[in-house]
Amino acid sequence: MSNITLTIIKPDAVGNGFSGKIIDHILAAGFKIKAMKMIHMNEREAGGFYDVHRERPFFNDLVAFMTSGPCIPMVLEKDNAVADFRATIGATNPKEAAEGTVRKLYAQSIEANAIHGSDSDENARREASYFFSELEIF
Ligand code: CMP
Repeated sequence: MSNITLTIIKPDAVGNGFSGKIIDHILAAGFKIKAMKMIHMNEREAGGFYDVHRERPFFNDLVAFMTSGPCIPMVLEKDNAVADFRATIGATNPKEAAEGTVRKLYAQSIEANAIHGSDSDENARREASYFFSELEIF
């Protein structure tokens, strides 16, 4: 499964009512949704997902933000999924995101940045299995 990536529509975008527009944007960019659900993570779940950032100064704020409301993890499929999706969502900091990207359109700040995208095929597989069992990925 090297043609998959894992995304999360984050609590800011869900709370602002942008979920539908963001899903439309993702489909229009040529991705197929292989799995999707809405969840509200607790601290252990959000901390586990962002474990690689545990030593970063922004870790506690990131976990507080990701547990502040519901979010929507999805497994997406497309050729070259990881790189193409990162181009679709734009830079982590929306101030640096290109015109027309999801973060340029819907994000407020580097923390409340609307959406997550895996940064490698290996992390895409790890992140997809963090939220979904094999039976849930179609
Ligand atoms: P994401 O792609 O989900 O991966 C890690 C997240 O940490 C990132 O998006 C940002 O939302 C968040 N974050 C908060 N502060 C920073 C920062 N200073 N640098 C990078 N990421 C940050």
